[in-house]
Amino acid sequence: MNTIGLPQKESKKLADELNILLSNFQVYYQNLRGLHWNIRGRRFFDLHLKFEELYNDAQLKIDLIAERVLTLEGVPFHTFSDYVANNKLPIGKNIHNDEKSIELIVSCLSELLKIERQILNMSAEIDDEGTNSMMSDFIAEQEKTIWMMKAWLA
Ligand SMILES: [Fe+2]
Repeated sequence: MNTIGLPQKESKKLADELNILLSNFQVYYQNLRGLHWNIRGRRFFDLHLKFEELYNDAQLKIDLIAERVLTLEGVPFHTFSDYVANNKLPIGKNIHNDEKSIELIVSCLSELLKIERQILNMSAEIDDEGTNSMMSDFIAEQEKTIWMMKAWLA
């Protein structure tokens, strides 16, 4: 057992998986910055602000994930090369269109959900309540965001 009472080997594996989530969240964050900068058209003002709200939220989550990695006695990834190597998200480049922007967000969130559910399975197995609750919160929030994005697209 480690200092916080979790099995050492499994905690290490969990930290590795959280590093994958961290990498993908960084790509999601950068996608959102691109959308915030490049959005054009009649909905500019509300979408420009909405994307800022989303990237600020992503930034907070990035810090929580990295600090959870450290709590589990891992070392958080912090280089662009690690982020790119572990990325599973679509990368949005020069997107100016509102629908394409929202569609990109929905696909990124769907991929992040897959990684989070995988982490939740692993953390549930070792009764790691700290990671369980973090993943549950992320999952519930992102599912709700996907619903709202889909309502916007409909
Ligand atoms: Fe800005």
